[in-house]
Amino acid sequence: MCGIMGYIGPKQAVPIIVDGLNKLEYRGYDSAGVAVVNDGKLSVTKTVGRLAKLAEVIAQKPLSGQVGIGHTRWATHGRPSDRNSHPHTDCNKRIAVVHNGIIENYLKLRNELQEKGHIFLSETDTEVIPHLIEEYYHGDLLAAVRQAVIRLEGSFAIVVTAADEPERLVVARKASPLIVGLGQGENYVASDIPAILNYTREVYILDDGELAEVTATGIFVSDFAGNPVRKSVFHVQWDAVAAEKGGYEDFMLKEIHEQPRAIRDTLAGKIDKENKRVVLPEVKMGRTELQKIKKIFITACGTAYHAGLVGKYIFEKLTRIPVEVDVASEFRYRNPIIDESMLTIVVSQSGETADTLAAMREAKARGTRVLAITNVVGSSVAREADDLILTLAGPEIAVASTKAYTTQLLSIYLLGIFIAQELGTITDAERAEMVDALLGLAEQVEKVLNTEAKIKEFAEDFKDKENIFFIGRGLDYYVSLEGALKLKEISYIHAEAYAAGELKHGTLALIVEGVPVFALATQPDLYEKMLSNIKEVKAREATVVALANTGDHELKHSVDYVLHIPKTLPIFTSILAVVPLQLFAYYAAKSRGCDVDKPRNLAKSVTVE
Ligand code: AGP
Repeated sequence: MCGIMGYIGPKQAVPIIVDGLNKLEYRGYDSAGVAVVNDGKLSVTKTVGRLAKLAEVIAQKPLSGQVGIGHTRWATHGRPSDRNSHPHTDCNKRIAVVHNGIIENYLKLRNELQEKGHIFLSETDTEVIPHLIEEYYHGDLLAAVRQAVIRLEGSFAIVVTAADEPERLVVARKASPLIVGLGQGENYVASDIPAILNYTREVYILDDGELAEVTATGIFVSDFAGNPVRKSVFHVQWDAVAAEKGGYEDFMLKEIHEQPRAIRDTLAGKIDKENKRVVLPEVKMGRTELQKIKKIFITACGTAYHAGLVGKYIFEKLTRIPVEVDVASEFRYRNPIIDESMLTIVVSQSGETADTLAAMREAKARGTRVLAITNVVGSSVAREADDLILTLAGPEIAVASTKAYTTQLLSIYLLGIFIAQELGTITDAERAEMVDALLGLAEQVEKVLNTEAKIKEFAEDFKDKENIFFIGRGLDYYVSLEGALKLKEISYIHAEAYAAGELKHGTLALIVEGVPVFALATQPDLYEKMLSNIKEVKAREATVVALANTGDHELKHSVDYVLHIPKTLPIFTSILAVVPLQLFAYYAAKSRGCDVDKPRNLAKSVTVE
């Protein structure tokens, strides 16, 4: 989510670091900073805002030094501010660290370190790292970092510099990308290839569980246990633009593939694995407040609205609290019957959508408590809500929302289980089963992504179609809406989603030979009904693509194509079912030569009415 750049060699570090961070600008960030070591002293400059702001501050107070680290931050723990910006240091300002990822056990480590007298200055999870290294530092930075990282749970890519050891940087990686750029008499470290392309195309790509000691003339890679690791050099063939997309052709495809990581990051710190409970640190409602909720309103736009519809199903099923969902542009003008006995949930990737913001303010003005599900810390929606669930999808660049949607669904699952566990409307066994299912979703999305080639192949068959229908019942209907929107907004093929039971009330008139129909049939309790609807459209010679759970062997006799998703609890299938539809939309659009990242007429964040 954030950007990392480090340098060690004969040149001044800061210009190289700032240039590298500039190449990572596309990733989105809210603050930036650098640290350099010179003459036995560590200097840190960091500020909320863009890199240009950081450059201004540095121009007023130049930093010299031939070894240094830099960071652009996408806030996850702690709002955007100077104090929360990276690099973070130890108590004596002798060690500086920049970090990408999420330290799941940071609160426990922070308490342990504070009891030992460490003083913390920020609200971040990252700040525990320099203090932990400080705790273990006895003159050997590599050894201290090694001891520190084995205490960390979660995901991290870190770069460490120390005033007492200007001759080396130490880096470590677990579940967050980190590379070492190989120079001549100088070396570079970065979170992503674009940062170092101006300097080298020879890189070591660190793997999870690896550390590296980086000097100007050498790189020693080892695992967390200290065993040396031999790395082969990866020669970067990409140009700068391709490198920004991590080698994917488009940001949208990159973000579709980032979904397992985004799911893991969004889950991080929200599951008490020992007791199989959901913990939502930024939701301040407890049993008392939750018992007072007589109704839940959900309001959002576009894809976020489709997530809200899934929320209706989830919250009503798990908590038995009635839920009403409305698009924000309608909600804000229809004088909604809403008061302090209700909870309003707003869902917004950007946290700045004008209609959603206005709807939230309208709801607040009528006395309701507001909970926001958003991807941007410090966004208007995040700042004005009473409670917050952050999707940690990282910056979503493509206009068509993918990883934001699936992490919105995940956040809704977490909230539904949280409310139900607090109200006691689910049993301990049901809760444990759901928590186990949540923990398996990221890997199951990976399995769906492995069917990409098959989806790409049959997407070609549909590229000349002008109308495609999506049908489903219950949760599958809500996912159908999202599948239709994805296809429309990037391929420009006209697509409509219908509750499958509604077809015979008019739309069936449009179903004739060769008309493509995606039929989602993942819900066991509605399966027979869906089978009837599939036969209904097949009888009109439609071309039917069914989406079913793995192990379903019946549908293949009734349809033209079958896509399978791994089995999970029926209430969680939406997060898996949408992935084939995202990939289908992407490849259909590519086969029609569309600009999938920047579709015509659309903006990423609709900040006007
Ligand atoms: C999603 O593919 C669309 N780009 C659009 O519908 C989007 O979901 C909608 O504009 C809401 O945006 P938000 O989540 O940032 O509020």
